[in-house]
Amino acid sequence: MSTPTLDKHSSALDAAEVTGTHLIAITLRVRRFNPEVSAEAEWVDYQIQVDPKERVLDALHKVKWEIDGSLTFRRSCAHGVCGSDAMRINGKNRLACKTLIKDVSPEKPITVEAIKGMTVLKDLVVDMDPFFQAYRDVMPFLITTGNEPTRERLQSAADRERFDDTTKCILCAACTSSCPVFWNDGQYFGPAAIVNAHRFIFDSRDEGGEQRLEILNDKDGVWRCRTTFNCTDACPRGIEVTKAIQEVKRALITRRF
Ligand code: SF4
Ligand code: FES
Repeated sequence: MSTPTLDKHSSALDAAEVTGTHLIAITLRVRRFNPEVSAEAEWVDYQIQVDPKERVLDALHKVKWEIDGSLTFRRSCAHGVCGSDAMRINGKNRLACKTLIKDVSPEKPITVEAIKGMTVLKDLVVDMDPFFQAYRDVMPFLITTGNEPTRERLQSAADRERFDDTTKCILCAACTSSCPVFWNDGQYFGPAAIVNAHRFIFDSRDEGGEQRLEILNDKDGVWRCRTTFNCTDACPRGIEVTKAIQEVKRALITRRF
């Protein structure tokens, strides 16, 4: 592990040191990886001062903008909408932009690393292509037959409620990358793809449910799920991911959806 800032031997004791009215000193411990420099990843400590009400994303910005511009991570909206900054913070999948410093034990080093089960390209950036391919494979769009309607496709409030939870997905991959089945075999479609299949399978306006169920009946489909609930725990949108997967399994057995 290396520490590019002030004191290489600064310890977690420094973390709780109050340095201003609102600022505290923290240690951000980031797992860095640059394949152009080394085949091995290494943990690097950064001592910075932050307001405890700032987010982990703000702390990463502080490191990138003030200490080491080569630190690489994804983010876009910074408000929990785009899903691009899922990472492991203190060993748990979270969105950096939705995680307050005060909520992640800032008196100890805060660890930040890339989500698991996907190839790390650099630092906190992983290869999301297989994740989005699984998403595309379940055909996440409305499938209909017959003539174009002359007005919007109507749906009752109860029918809309049926899949309301799974419409909230922001494709952050926190669920899929917290799944032990996915860690062991990246061929598994993964929770996020199933959630997005659920969103259309249970939409009363859609006619592609049977096709999607057959896709998920595959050896790498829903039957790989071991109901560990990691996905539900990880979802920053509060989606009942495991429940959605169970509903898809049940639809496969009963062919009712
Ligand atoms: S279900 Fe939740 S954790 Fe999974 S990709 Fe969607 S928003 Fe992220
Ligand atoms: S940056 Fe968009 S969800 Fe965090």
